[in-house]
Amino acid sequence: MPRTAVNLPSPYGSCPFDPPPAYEAAAREGAVTRAVLPDGTAAWLVTGYEEVRAVLADPRFSADARTPGFPFLSPGQRELATAKPSFIRMDDPEHARLRRMVTKDFLVKRIEELRPGIQDIVDRAVDRMTEGRTSADLVAEFALPVPSLVICLMLGVPYEDHDLFQSLSRTLLDNNSTRQQAEEAHARLMGYLAELAERKRRHPEDDILSRLAARDDLTAQETASLGFLLLVTGHESTANMTAISVLALLRHPDQTARLRSDPGLIRGAVEELLRHLTIIHLGLGRAATEPVTLAGVTIPAGAGVICMLSTANREEHLFTADNGTAPTALDITRDARRHVAFGYGTHQCLGQTLARVELQIILTTLLHRLPALRLAVPPTQLTYNQNNIVYGLRALPVTW
Ligand code: HEM
Repeated sequence: MPRTAVNLPSPYGSCPFDPPPAYEAAAREGAVTRAVLPDGTAAWLVTGYEEVRAVLADPRFSADARTPGFPFLSPGQRELATAKPSFIRMDDPEHARLRRMVTKDFLVKRIEELRPGIQDIVDRAVDRMTEGRTSADLVAEFALPVPSLVICLMLGVPYEDHDLFQSLSRTLLDNNSTRQQAEEAHARLMGYLAELAERKRRHPEDDILSRLAARDDLTAQETASLGFLLLVTGHESTANMTAISVLALLRHPDQTARLRSDPGLIRGAVEELLRHLTIIHLGLGRAATEPVTLAGVTIPAGAGVICMLSTANREEHLFTADNGTAPTALDITRDARRHVAFGYGTHQCLGQTLARVELQIILTTLLHRLPALRLAVPPTQLTYNQNNIVYGLRALPVTW
């Protein structure tokens, strides 16, 4: 057990794709270590793969932010998680009841049926970005609009309102937002969705929000909260994953060349990018409701725990490639399928099939249609969302 506790969140080192050195150092010393949250309270940092999965699968660890000891990385996060929470911050059976209302819409079969529609959205986005131009900001003009358009279509949210919901989500996911800013953004987005759900109740269409609004076993508040969760998670994570994946590929031309010459590698490449980049980079918070012993360390009841997915995804004995490539490197031919980038257990990402399909289509299309795609600025000029729940780039200037 290391003597010093790790400060959360810790700053990144020189490589934007590697977890902060403090987490890697903690992982080398033990799978469970002590940590200090930004408000000075103590917590536990879980860095080992088996231990991360054990916590996330164990009902003695609560995902409900109202449980005593639940760890927060910012006042804004406390507000987001405790004021009228969505099911990502609830425990079973309440979590399971609400999640069940939308599981069908995200099943593999249903998402596979959406492939042609997603391909069309991606093709049009490439057309718009490239028409009459040779450079663009890939974040604003491609990575953000594509998953927003997809989730808007599925939910029945008018894409014309994207400025509103994209900026409100950004405020909500940014740890630099004050409690008041987060509170306001939460109230405005919930108000917007409650109004939209009420319109859908009166004039239903063929979309998720209409189906939810028609149910008599959901309150209006629950319907808005389900819409809120799907809208925010549905565009932010894939948008950030798109831009940082493109950057990772541009910085690894050998890997990109392999992918271009054999597009059949795309499924494995997406899993490896999810593993290597682990964009939910600040980890997943839980609170122990009973004492639990993990890797020889007893975590007391009422203690906060942060499961660090990024270090778990670099566990050597699990992720060293057959050809000997270390987990620290990007290798699109590695079998990375056991990664925990989508979490694990009862809260494992509901939208993972959608995210996978979107990323497979997006990356294949970009590599095929823009064979000369490259950075338009030196890499040192890029800035990252280091204090955002979802890791990514603020902008990605590219040319082709
Ligand atoms: C949950 C990652 C895309 C919807 C999660 C969790 C992770 C995650 C780590 C677990 C949270 C926890 O246990 O506390 C990602 C990544 C994505 C992605 C890396 C993209 C690359 C999406 C998409 C949707 C989505 C496209 C579509 C709506 C959700 C929902 C939950 C969730 C609803 C909560 C599940 C529950 O609590 O039962 N995601 N996600 N995600 N994700 Fe995703």
